[in-house]
Amino acid sequence: MRTTIRFWFRDQWHELTPVSPTDLVLPFLREQCRLVGSKEGCNEGDCGACTAILARHTGKGLEFQPVNTCILPVAALDHAWLLTIEDIGDHHQLHPVQDATVKANGTQCGFCTPGFVMSLVAGHLQPTLAEPLQLLAGNLCRCTGYGGLIDVARQLHTLPQDPHLQAKVERAEAALKATDSEGLAMITPEGRIDAPTQLSDLLELRRIYPDATLVGGATDVGLWITKRLDQLAHVIFTGWCPELTAVEVRDRTLHIGAAATYQAFRDPLLEQYPELTEWLDRLGSVQVRGRGTLGGNFANGSPIGDSPPVLMALDATMTLLSYRGERTLPVDAFFKDYRITDLGPDEVIGWFTVPRRTPGMRLQVDKVSRRIDQDISTALIACALRGDALRIGLGGLAATPRLANHVMHSRNLRDLSLDITPLSDLRASSHYRYQVTEGLIRSFMEEHG
Ligand SMILES: Cc1cc2nc3c(=O)[nH]c(=O)nc-3n(C[C@H](O)[C@H](O)[C@H](O)COP(=O)(O)OP(=O)(O)OC[C@H]3O[C@@H](n4cnc5c(N)ncnc54)[C@H](O)[C@@H]3O)c2cc1C
Ligand code: FES
Ligand code: FES
Repeated sequence: MRTTIRFWFRDQWHELTPVSPTDLVLPFLREQCRLVGSKEGCNEGDCGACTAILARHTGKGLEFQPVNTCILPVAALDHAWLLTIEDIGDHHQLHPVQDATVKANGTQCGFCTPGFVMSLVAGHLQPTLAEPLQLLAGNLCRCTGYGGLIDVARQLHTLPQDPHLQAKVERAEAALKATDSEGLAMITPEGRIDAPTQLSDLLELRRIYPDATLVGGATDVGLWITKRLDQLAHVIFTGWCPELTAVEVRDRTLHIGAAATYQAFRDPLLEQYPELTEWLDRLGSVQVRGRGTLGGNFANGSPIGDSPPVLMALDATMTLLSYRGERTLPVDAFFKDYRITDLGPDEVIGWFTVPRRTPGMRLQVDKVSRRIDQDISTALIACALRGDALRIGLGGLAATPRLANHVMHSRNLRDLSLDITPLSDLRASSHYRYQVTEGLIRSFMEEHG
């Protein structure tokens, strides 16, 4: 096991030790490296002002991912290339994306501009990352207005590559290709970080340290650090184990590792269920989907997580692993009460198994929220009809995500009150939530029932 974090940064290898479990990349950049181009806006992954790019070698080449550095643990840099706005263009020669932003009047006070540029450069380096307009969804601008930025996004794939950046890409690719896949175990006075690459090591660590915090993409855990000021004494990363990041299309099922990112399973999932395109596009942002995982979305036990109702409607199962063995359960059985799940102290969520599409199947997913992009669900209603079997997954309408069991069996919407007890809060009243849910289920049943 290595005891240092090693990553490619500013054209050379960097080694960091000691690192605390709560060390995050944005303060590392701004305070330790004095690289202040990445800005701190919200400090919770919402505004994108801190966006940088993380590149990893997949074996075939580099894969580029914009990330919110304010909630990115420093340990996540291991084995990666961190590109910041300081790597893009310079005083004499702007990168084509920067140049286009200036010409389109896409910047005014400039606070948000490095973040927008980094999101767009990520999509420029890797055109398969997202639709150009999607690249803007995780970045906020408070003064310019979005017209110019949208113009830049629309012309993104016609802009030339920057030879200076391409030279850096080639050097980083050669360096990262040669890296090993050894795990990480770092013990410092401030705490402990483990990132095992062997599943048996992960389960053994979980057995010995049930109080340690498991971390997938840290898109929830990062906020515990920046907002709740949690002092995490010991974190165990799940995403170094290949078993937990695997995504495979099998005979009848789609297998999704609990630590596979939304970005990683996007294509195979949408190939089976193109109806989920809008749902996935509206889950967080490109930055959040490039880090967030199903394991994290389930384990946090939130009643408003967007994936549980969808996986419930699709009749998916999940497999929990421990040193004692594994057990598989329907995803709806995982949620016991408000933020209480069936995950044992020595268990880790291993993977999800989603049945593949069957002929004639119908699926409808509606996320009701106050804003289209990057908003928390007011309610999420997922309806699926496979043969005669109707399944309805609901989020934001009870203490846990749940199936509308009574309506599913009786097919009578009067029974909806037996399934849900919506709350009133700042997002919507109880009455509104009930009405919108009833209306959306009715429209699905009338069309397909
Ligand atoms: C700006 C922003 C927008 C967001 N938008 C949405 C949204 O639209 N919809 C939505 O549902 N969520 C949203 N989220 C929340 C978050 O992105 C998701 O919940 C995500 O799926 C969490 O995954 P993660 O890997 O980052 O979890 P982490 O932060 O790494 O972990 C979350 C919890 O899960 C536990 N955990 C992680 N992996 C495992 C495992 N394999 N086994 C057991 N426990 C595990 C951790 O210990 C922790 O308790 C948003 C977050 C941000 C910052
Ligand atoms: S500072 Fe707002 S997303 Fe990081
Ligand atoms: S240019 Fe001022 S916030 Fe975007």
